Amino acid sequence: MTQYRPVWAPDGVEIEKPSTARMYDFYLGGSHNFAADRQLAARTIEAWPDVPHLCQANRAFLRRSVTHLASLGVDQFLDLGSGIPTAGNVHEVVHAINPDARVVYVDADPVAIAHSKALLAQVPEAAAVYADLRDPDAVLDSPEVAGFLDLARPVALLMFAALPFVPDSDDPAGIVAAYRDKTAPGSYLALSHGTGDYRPEAVRRVEDVYTQASHAMRLRSRDDISALMDGYELLDPGLVDIILWRPDPQSPPDPLGGDVTRYSMFAAVGRR
Ligand SMILES: C[S@@+](CC[C@H](N)C(=O)[O-])C[C@H]1O[C@@H](n2cnc3c(N)ncnc32)[C@H](O)[C@@H]1O
Repeated sequence: MTQYRPVWAPDGVEIEKPSTARMYDFYLGGSHNFAADRQLAARTIEAWPDVPHLCQANRAFLRRSVTHLASLGVDQFLDLGSGIPTAGNVHEVVHAINPDARVVYVDADPVAIAHSKALLAQVPEAAAVYADLRDPDAVLDSPEVAGFLDLARPVALLMFAALPFVPDSDDPAGIVAAYRDKTAPGSYLALSHGTGDYRPEAVRRVEDVYTQASHAMRLRSRDDISALMDGYELLDPGLVDIILWRPDPQSPPDPLGGDVTRYSMFAAVGRR
């Protein structure tokens, strides 16, 4: 069936292949998704009804961790697998603390980057680049990153819910280490990652659904996620369930009753 093609869809985008970026946009209540994305997202929610809540918890961790890093004086951010712009984008969170800080968004989804560029047209301190995060040299040498960030100074690398889309065969720990080794001492990594430790059956069902998407999804054990932070000294409270990373006392009551197994995501921030 041919699908209706909205005017905002960038040329060349495959609207009939569900995209992980657009499915995530759908879970967050966004409007930059197509029928194929919504259908597969609905199947994911059937397999794990808590998915929209865990996406919100991931965004809340983004806000808390980026606010913390900006408050520590970090003024350069590289957001890898940044997604389609939504409420509380990294540059907005950062600029509330330091309007001169620089942010570069990297994603391999054409809709995510087209919308990021449109949003950033009036924001000289931020840029977006269409690139594959699995190729650290290509990302770091791209004109948008090399011309915008000074990698001789500390930078915060952000990998929020992005590494589950890097299969084991692509060596996610090796990719993270390559970025780490190319950043200056005093740089940071903030990371969130889904886990199959608590609810392996439900996770298997979700992984199954995602075999139909643009990127397969691989949720990992706490030990494997901990290994991704190698070479970083973890800030308090370490690698923890996502809702337990420096929770905001002002936030409304937890919609899942604080049951960390229903979120099944770990989060950490480390300094190299
Ligand atoms: C679940 S979304 C997370 C978005 C955002 N980081 C957040 O936490 O709100 C995962 C994002 O990673 C992107 N992604 C997956 N594999 C990628 C790759 N190899 N290179 C760049 N981006 C990738 C997807 O396009 C998608 O936008």
